[in-house]
Amino acid sequence: MHHFTPRDGALHAEDVSLLDLAERVGTPVYVYSSATLRRHYSLLAEAAAKYPAALGDALIAFAVKANSNVSVLATLAKLGAGADTVSEGEIRRALAAGVPAGRIILSGVGKTDDELAFAITTGVRQINIESAVELDRIVAIAQRLGRAPDIAVRVNPRIGAGGHAKITTGGVGDKFGVPAEEALDLYARAAASPHVNPVGLACHIGSQIVDLTPLEGAFRLLRSMTETLRARGLSVTRLDLGGGLGVPYAEDAATASIEDYMAMTAAVLDGLEVEAAFEPGRLLAANAGVLLSRVIQVSERQDGRRFLVLDAAMNDLVRPAMYDAFHDIKPVRARPSGGDNSPTAYDVVGPVCETGDTFARDRPLPPLEAGDLVVFTGAGAYGAVMASEYNSRLLAPEILVDGDRWAVIRPRPSYEEMLARETRADWL
Ligand code: LLP
Repeated sequence: MHHFTPRDGALHAEDVSLLDLAERVGTPVYVYSSATLRRHYSLLAEAAAKYPAALGDALIAFAVKANSNVSVLATLAKLGAGADTVSEGEIRRALAAGVPAGRIILSGVGKTDDELAFAITTGVRQINIESAVELDRIVAIAQRLGRAPDIAVRVNPRIGAGGHAKITTGGVGDKFGVPAEEALDLYARAAASPHVNPVGLACHIGSQIVDLTPLEGAFRLLRSMTETLRARGLSVTRLDLGGGLGVPYAEDAATASIEDYMAMTAAVLDGLEVEAAFEPGRLLAANAGVLLSRVIQVSERQDGRRFLVLDAAMNDLVRPAMYDAFHDIKPVRARPSGGDNSPTAYDVVGPVCETGDTFARDRPLPPLEAGDLVVFTGAGAYGAVMASEYNSRLLAPEILVDGDRWAVIRPRPSYEEMLARETRADWL
């Protein structure tokens, strides 16, 4: 469910016309809907709150990597969301957005000493450790700082899942977490140290998971590991269940529902008396954002191949190039009825100088011409955050809509600003 709907012949973000936004701010531009973010958060929080006996006072920690704009984070923070972070930068963004340190989780396979020290002195809720060597490092840093941070051990359940090989994280060869047996040993070692306080286990097996079976397998493993640890006299009070639940990128795509996901999770954890944490990224943000773009030109070859050349490119939205991801493309303005509106197959491309800068091949779309506006839907997660200035294209700005108000939450830089960030070597 999202709040991008046609009204008076043009697509709107809530009560704001995308035609107006394109005129005022230019294109390409990311546009986010506050109501959609809030709705997704509430659906998840309400579903979790139905099972207090199984999930405790569950924490919903938004995966900041999906969309790290401070206004987006603040929208969720106001509802009580925590933050799942993977770097000092993300912790700083979450804090700037008003997420209390006690609701921030730090994960990641390669945290630097500085990042660990920063997280410990900030007093984040928990640091998820991913290897034996990391445990040793964190113990040394905590000892030096005279603190004993809460930690969780991230388990690699040997169950990979997700929408693409590059976003599977729980498989045997994936770099994340430690296998169950090793995790148990690590937990016991951590418990023996006065410098860290192991509170639980964590897992995250992949992203864009549309079927609950692999998640259920991973959660069952966490449950049995919790029982094993407790049988060994160790305390386990939290389970961090990661993110990963997929979203429908196409309108007719089938994905597991939030209700079924929560019911499955509660059934697996029933009676375990732990506090659950969830780390959804895509689920909250993907369908809360679109990338709005203008057609630069339509070119047709003699062999009939038709290219829709947009002013957005792979540097703005890299998911199709990187993961062969599907994003729906919709015209902003409805065509006047009466003409020939039958769909035409376009290769939808950006201006960047690589063939990979192709958003879609043979995509059936209503007839479009230069100057028309289109949106890529499902672009609120892993969109702007993965953008670059490749080809010296300016970063697309971001807009947040809330009802009939809107704000530029990251302006488009000027070319002068882009150049001013670099310094010329003094011998040149
Ligand atoms: N927790 C951890 C430890 C993660 O590594 C991730 C995502 C999440 C939570 C959130 O997962 P989500 O709920 O969003 O699926 N750039 C890729 C997705 C990479 C996901 C990486 N980890 C894409 O555009 O599809």
